[in-house]
Amino acid sequence: MPPLHRRLSRKLAAAARGWLADPAPPRHPDQERFIYPRLNALVEETAAALGATQRPQYTWGLAHAAYLAQQLGIPRMAALELGVAGGKGLVALDRAADWVEGALGVAIEVHGFDSGQGLPRPADVRDLPNLWAAGDFPMDQAALAGRLRRARLHLGLVEREIPTFLQTQPPPIGFISFDLDLYSSTVASFPLLLAAPDRLLPRVQCYFDDILGFTFAEFNGERLAIREFNAAHATRQISPIFGARHYVPPRYAAAIWVDKLYMAHILDHPRYNDYDGLVLRPRLDL
Ligand SMILES: C[S@@+](CC[C@H](N)C(=O)[O-])C[C@H]1O[C@@H](n2cnc3c(N)ncnc32)[C@H](O)[C@@H]1O
Repeated sequence: MPPLHRRLSRKLAAAARGWLADPAPPRHPDQERFIYPRLNALVEETAAALGATQRPQYTWGLAHAAYLAQQLGIPRMAALELGVAGGKGLVALDRAADWVEGALGVAIEVHGFDSGQGLPRPADVRDLPNLWAAGDFPMDQAALAGRLRRARLHLGLVEREIPTFLQTQPPPIGFISFDLDLYSSTVASFPLLLAAPDRLLPRVQCYFDDILGFTFAEFNGERLAIREFNAAHATRQISPIFGARHYVPPRYAAAIWVDKLYMAHILDHPRYNDYDGLVLRPRLDL
């Protein structure tokens, strides 16, 4: 084929690929009236600075949590990783906190919770023993301790560590990554979401890692824990962030983590109805 024809046919093939590709995910038409683009820029900056150590799902939740604290004039908040194992997630949270704190001016404490000895034994079918076994995801405590900067590690079963933590009167919790795998462990962590309002932001950004694919269902694992929690507590409700893919940075619109973004609504929080800065007003300054 003559070179000109070759070039032309390559161009046509590229154009055809473009036409056939999935269309860009629809964005909300009024993005600029909302805070999303600005917080997304922070997520992208953090991703560029931290590279492979970062997790955008943590930075996104952390940024939204710190922004809510900022808007409410709350100077300090806590971010939690439940289930730490080797610590990749906790290190990502630890590093992201530097960026979010710097950008939004809200001090962030980071806490990680883990048995230190891998998973407890699955108790029954609700704990998905077809997937998980006792001792899965062990931790190298010495290696992890050397990589943490601000994060504090709480070693022991969450059944005991979480009530102890709440007694220390931590600042309001704004972000929680739930990655304990088992139904029973997730239930044991939910006293966090039942804490007194001064221990919580009025809405808590949540990430549930084990809810998609495999044999996860409404009647087992984290999804069952959420369903039962919502049925039992009218004023504390855990909900997916619906359509989150339209609001995260566009390049993540098809990423799996976007479907794992949830929000815990503390409906009896005295500041639940305060203006939260998501819909921008002219006086807003970020
Ligand atoms: C999948 S791993 C966590 C991985 C980590 N989030 C990451 O992304 O790097 C799950 C962890 O949950 C911890 N875990 C599960 N149930 C627990 C419980 N009841 N108390 C304390 N830790 C628990 C296990 O020790 C295990 O290390």
